[in-house]
Amino acid sequence: MKVAVFSAKPYDRASLERCNATFGHELHFFEARLTIETAPLAEGFPGICVFVNDRVDRHVLARLATSGVRIVATRSAGYNQIDLEAAERHGIVVVRVPAYSPNAVSEFTVGLILTLGRQIHRAYNRVREHNFELTGLEGFELRDKTIGILGTGRIGTMTLRNLSGFGARLLAYDVVRNPEASALAEYVDSPRELARQCDIISLHVPLTPQTYHLIDEEFLRHVKPGVFLVNTSRGALLETRAVIEGLKSGVIGFLAIDVYEEEEDLFYKDLSNRVLTDDTFARLLTFPNVIVTGHQAFLTDHALRTIAETTLGNLREFEETGACTNAVTAEEVRGE
Ligand code: NAI
Repeated sequence: MKVAVFSAKPYDRASLERCNATFGHELHFFEARLTIETAPLAEGFPGICVFVNDRVDRHVLARLATSGVRIVATRSAGYNQIDLEAAERHGIVVVRVPAYSPNAVSEFTVGLILTLGRQIHRAYNRVREHNFELTGLEGFELRDKTIGILGTGRIGTMTLRNLSGFGARLLAYDVVRNPEASALAEYVDSPRELARQCDIISLHVPLTPQTYHLIDEEFLRHVKPGVFLVNTSRGALLETRAVIEGLKSGVIGFLAIDVYEEEEDLFYKDLSNRVLTDDTFARLLTFPNVIVTGHQAFLTDHALRTIAETTLGNLREFEETGACTNAVTAEEVRGE
């Protein structure tokens, strides 16, 4: 199939080209992010391939439909950037990569907890400046902590498995209980109960209307003072302004985030020569007890290989059968 690949970084291009040797699609790579301005690039392509910060809203989908696009393949597990109802109205099929590597995100999550909990990021900078003073680098041990996993799907459960060797008490919450997670953690009945009991809370739910701003002022009223929050899922699970207030007052003691609710104008770009105009994001970067990474939890060799194989396989399946096992529909998302 002739496919326009948007937001194509060198690592995407390398993995897709390597894998395409066995698929034989006609891939055209565009570094540009898909927006209403760049949508005309899709003219003449029956397939387009996107990533998490491409904008696939109803306006873009209407434009894509007039260009003859029949399938949107996202190289991600999450698909909150795509208006599925609009895609359906235009007869455009949306496919994704449901599970390319839960390990990649879960290992990164554990890495963030250990880095911030033991001040490794600050130690790294100090030592480079020949400052070997330890004051201010005091950490804690996970065996003394209660860790709560919010969302026990693939990544949440893998995170529980990876955390289980540290001797922490593990709690979990999900709308659906997962037997594998039940064997590793004790389920509680509500996110509020998780807030009440946990020293560390890590988010692994998708972004949906129900989970939007899950961590807001109200949630923060119930957390243990100095709670450690981790978000490697989607930025808008956190109400950033409430989180900043929480950091200022000490209600939040540590924050590690790989995602940010306004990340699409920032992440995946080199802005090192520019003035940061997002004051909320700039404020987050000022806290010594905050680590921000630029949506990289997925970025491993294993994940890139699986993303390429599944995406190219999705496109082939659609080309041959007109349908795809990894399609997502608005109906499924609404739970109908
Ligand atoms: P999954 O679909 O396997 O698991 C999601 C879990 O969330 C399910 O068990 C579901 O029942 C639960 N859930 C949904 N709504 C809920 C609610 N309102 N309250 C409580 N639980 C709820 O998804 P997976 O593969 O574990 O991925 C989780 C998320 O991680 C993705 O949606 C995506 O946003 C994010 N992600 C981030 C990456 C990164 O690079 N930072 C890479 C890949 C995924």
